[in-house]
Amino acid sequence: MARHPHGGRLVTGRAITAAIGRLLCLSALACAGMTAAVAQQTPDVPYVQTPSGVVDVMLELAMLNSNDFLIDLGSGDGRIVIQAAKKHGVRSQGVEIDPNLVNTSNQEAKRQGVAGKVSFVTGNLFVMDLSKATVLTMYLLPQLNMQLRPRLLSELKPGTRIVSHDFDMGDWKPDQRREVAVPNKSYGPPVSQVYFWYVPANVAGRWRWQLPIAGKAAGYEAKLSQLFQEVDGEMLVDGGTAAVRDLKLRGDLLSFNLTREMYGQKIAHEFSGRVEGDAITGRVTVSAGGESTAHNWQATRIERGSLRTNR
Ligand SMILES: C[S@@+](CC[C@H](N)C(=O)[O-])C[C@H]1O[C@@H](n2cnc3c(N)ncnc32)[C@H](O)[C@@H]1O
Repeated sequence: MARHPHGGRLVTGRAITAAIGRLLCLSALACAGMTAAVAQQTPDVPYVQTPSGVVDVMLELAMLNSNDFLIDLGSGDGRIVIQAAKKHGVRSQGVEIDPNLVNTSNQEAKRQGVAGKVSFVTGNLFVMDLSKATVLTMYLLPQLNMQLRPRLLSELKPGTRIVSHDFDMGDWKPDQRREVAVPNKSYGPPVSQVYFWYVPANVAGRWRWQLPIAGKAAGYEAKLSQLFQEVDGEMLVDGGTAAVRDLKLRGDLLSFNLTREMYGQKIAHEFSGRVEGDAITGRVTVSAGGESTAHNWQATRIERGSLRTNR
């Protein structure tokens, strides 16, 4: 008899059939189709509530603001969606396969006075359009997170925040992680893990830009390689290599520092900018001999690379 890690509930015969079906399917496309078709009738994970203290931490990590649109995948009784609207004033949507839970969520949203800010869709999270989300929350299972991962990386806008209760994304390391005490947890140790990621922009490839240094136009080139949000870079300034430090990608925000001997003096640069397609727009502070000047920074990608997802 199969038992589920969420609360040790029994897994239904149909869920087992679905799981075997997924194991047997041979191509990624066939798997996706089969999962969607089967999951329309059968939950891929049973209903277990996120304790309210954990919901608070999830929403805190998500750093909600009034422009956000939150989607909870498998929204259960609607608690994450309702709390996001009530405490943070955020428009939120739940996607839930069980119509009874959708009814409960709608009633609860009305009772708590947030019906105008939230919506609940009866449907399968594997076929929902997620592209409108600026924040995505989930309490699913490790294999479901992994199944969703390629879509999250390709369909969500760079900078979208993802928060997952208890389950990670395999070798996509979280940007943050919190442990929350849950004394009466129904399975495992009495703690919950909360994982947080920014969807990284693709910055891989070769970028070029110019800056006015000592009255001359200096040419810069960066060659960036990328594994999820981890970026490595080689930099050239006027054709010579330069030391790069603190290269960081947070969603669509790229920053790094660069130091190079130029025109007889050591010049330090602090770059930060927003990546949009093949352009970066931001600011750079250039320091030399105890003096600093700030400039606009505009870089153009001249050769695209790929965002790797295998370590
Ligand atoms: C572990 S519960 C989490 C509920 C809620 N998000 C929370 O944190 O309290 C997972 C929910 O996902 C729903 N679910 C399972 N498979 C689904 C699917 N394919 N599409 C949409 N919802 C699904 C279940 O019915 C269940 O309510």
